[in-house]
Parts: sequence; C-alpha cells; structure tokens
Amino acid sequence: MPPREKFLVTGAMGCLGAWVLRHLRNEGAAVVAADLSSDPVRPRLLMSDEELQAIDWLILDITDAAAVNRTVSDHEITHIVHLAGLQIPFCKANPALGAAVNVVGTINVLEAVRHNGVSGLAYASSLAALGPPQLYERVPVEDDAPTAPSTLYGVYKVTNEETARLYWTDWRVGSIGLRPYNVFGVGRDQGLTADVAKAILAVAAGEPFHIRYGGPLALQHASDVAEMFIAAARLAHQGAAVVNVRNDVTTVEAFVDLLSELYPHAQITNERGNLLPFPADLDDAGLRRLIGDVPHVPLTEAIRQDVEQYRSLLKTGRLDLEQLSL
Ligand SMILES: NC(=O)c1ccc[n+]([C@@H]2O[C@H](COP(=O)([O-])OP(=O)(O)OC[C@H]3O[C@@H](n4cnc5c(N)ncnc54)[C@H](O)[C@@H]3O)[C@@H](O)[C@H]2O)c1
Repeated sequence: MPPREKFLVTGAMGCLGAWVLRHLRNEGAAVVAADLSSDPVRPRLLMSDEELQAIDWLILDITDAAAVNRTVSDHEITHIVHLAGLQIPFCKANPALGAAVNVVGTINVLEAVRHNGVSGLAYASSLAALGPPQLYERVPVEDDAPTAPSTLYGVYKVTNEETARLYWTDWRVGSIGLRPYNVFGVGRDQGLTADVAKAILAVAAGEPFHIRYGGPLALQHASDVAEMFIAAARLAHQGAAVVNVRNDVTTVEAFVDLLSELYPHAQITNERGNLLPFPADLDDAGLRRLIGDVPHVPLTEAIRQDVEQYRSLLKTGRLDLEQLSL
C-alpha cells in the first residue's frame, strides 16, 4: 500500500490554489485547504458543492507561525503546496505586508516542515525573481541564471529561494520552488499579468478588452501549473531546487492574433509599447529532470477549454464580468 498522503494547500482560495484543489479532489486525495479568506469564490468556479464539501477548509493566516505549525501538526500533513502570497501590485502598495506574507509566511511554512517531518514541499517562487530580459544573453534562460528582481515582489521571491536553500543546507528541509510566468485560466483575476485570462473571458462574453502590456511572454495554463506543483510536492525532493516553468513562449501580440483567428468576433487589443520586465524564453530542463513530462495542454486547446468554461459559468450566473473593469 502506498504511504498515506495528506496535502496542505496554502493560498487555497487563489487561482492556482483552486486548481490544485480540483486536481487533488479528482484523485480523491486527502486535502486541507488553507487561506486567509473563507469565501471559496475561485474553487467554486471549478468544483461542485459536493466536491467542495469533501475538502477540509481552514482559515489560516500564513504570517502566524504558531498557527501554521499547529495546522501541519494537528492535521498530520505529509505534503505542502505553498501558494499563499501577495502579487506584484499588492506588494508595491504595501511593502511591509508583502514581506510579512511572502517572506515571513514562507519561513513559517519551512519551519513547520522542519519540525513536523513533512515529506514534500513545493512552493511558488516566480519568474519575477529574474531581471530584465536584456540581462540574459544566453537563451533560453536557465534555472541558475543570476537573479536581479525589478519589483519588490521579485525581491521577496528571491528571498524565499535563498531561504529554502539554507533550510536544506542547515536542516535538510527539502523543497522545490517553481517559477511560473503568466498563468491564465478560470480563476485568474488579479495580479499584473491577469489580463491574458481576462481577455479570454471577454471573448467568451463577446466583450471588448484591452491587455495593458505587450511583447514576449510565456503563458502557462493554471490547470497545468497546478499539476506541476502537485507532482513537485510528491517528489519529496532531497535538496532545494528552484526551477523555471516554460510551456507556451509567445508574444502578447501573437496571442491577440490567435484569439481573433479562433474567435473572429473577438475585440481584443493590447498596449504594444508596455513590455513586461522579465525574460520570456525560459529553459524548463530542470523541471523536466525532476518531474519528467511537464503537464502542457497546447495553447489553442487551453483557450478553447477556457472559453467553454467561462461561457458555461456566465450562462449559469456563477461568474460576472466585474473583473474586466478592474
Ligand atoms: N498567477 C501567476 O501568474 C503567478 C506567476 C508566478 C508566481 N505566482 C505565485 O503563485 C502563488 C499563487 O498565485 P495565484 O495566481 O493563485 O494568486 P492569488 O492572488 O489568486 O492567490 C493568493 C492567495 O493567497 C491568499 N493569501 C494572501 N494573504 C494571505 C495570508 N496572510 N495568509 C494566507 N493566505 C493568504 C489570498 O487570500 C489568495 O487566496 C503566489 O505566491 C504567486 O506569487 C503566480
């Protein structure tokens, strides 16, 4: 019999958290879903009431070290997918809170792993740990390319990576940090790069939408990224790995053209001059070495799936278009 597994997902009410919950529930895995928020707005977009009821929900402030430790201990957690965090605009608006949630919160998780014998930890770093694209002559950019974050959020993510490294050297706490770039899919509604997901929602609703950035980017479907996190946590990695995520390397302009090709009625435009301050062409060889085949629904198929899902949610009144004006 395989060893008993019990997952803790932090930031479970977020976009990636909701997708991780959905995949774990599909497998019938035991899961504790923890978040500061108690309203499963995003998980409800992906799961039935019955599926939601099968999950153990918990309000947990990741900045509260004692509460994080108690949660891991009381629930006999064996694997953690740590996603709780504040995104780029929120860290910029409130740097101290950003550091408390993103930096101290991650330390609290590492401590809980250290003191409770958790076997596998996967946590969310970010592509924002890297510097502007012109810094990297060698492409695709490898996992060990120098970090040079241009946002506070990126500084916090680099701190997480370095902290995890020392938890391995000092206490043999193993971890894998994943660096997603532009995650899109149902439930992605906030953060600097949420406009790609919002554009797909606008297409599904027959509404116009303007993406506020342009140029190269790597797109990763939330469902695929969630599977990567689960696989990484299950590895019980002996070391402190930090790996890039790749999947669809494209440009915002090509993405807009693809939407028009797939949906001729699409009214999507983008801000061509406003380039994102990150390299897009990333090497995911490290991730492949760790988990083998990387989950990847091709971009066209992922867009089609999202449009269908958004249309069904809009039709049944489970989603409105408020996020398009935020
Ligand atoms: N979405 C992306 O494109 C992307 C790219 C790279 C990295 N990431 C990282 O992946 C993780 C998940 O991203 P997401 O898109 O699901 O984000 P999200 O903003 O949708 O979800 C984050 C969740 O964290 C929770 N949270 C905030 N403060 C908390 C606290 N003090 N205690 C407990 N929970 C708290 C929020 O309530 C929210 O549910 C984040 O760490 C993010 O930085 C995301």
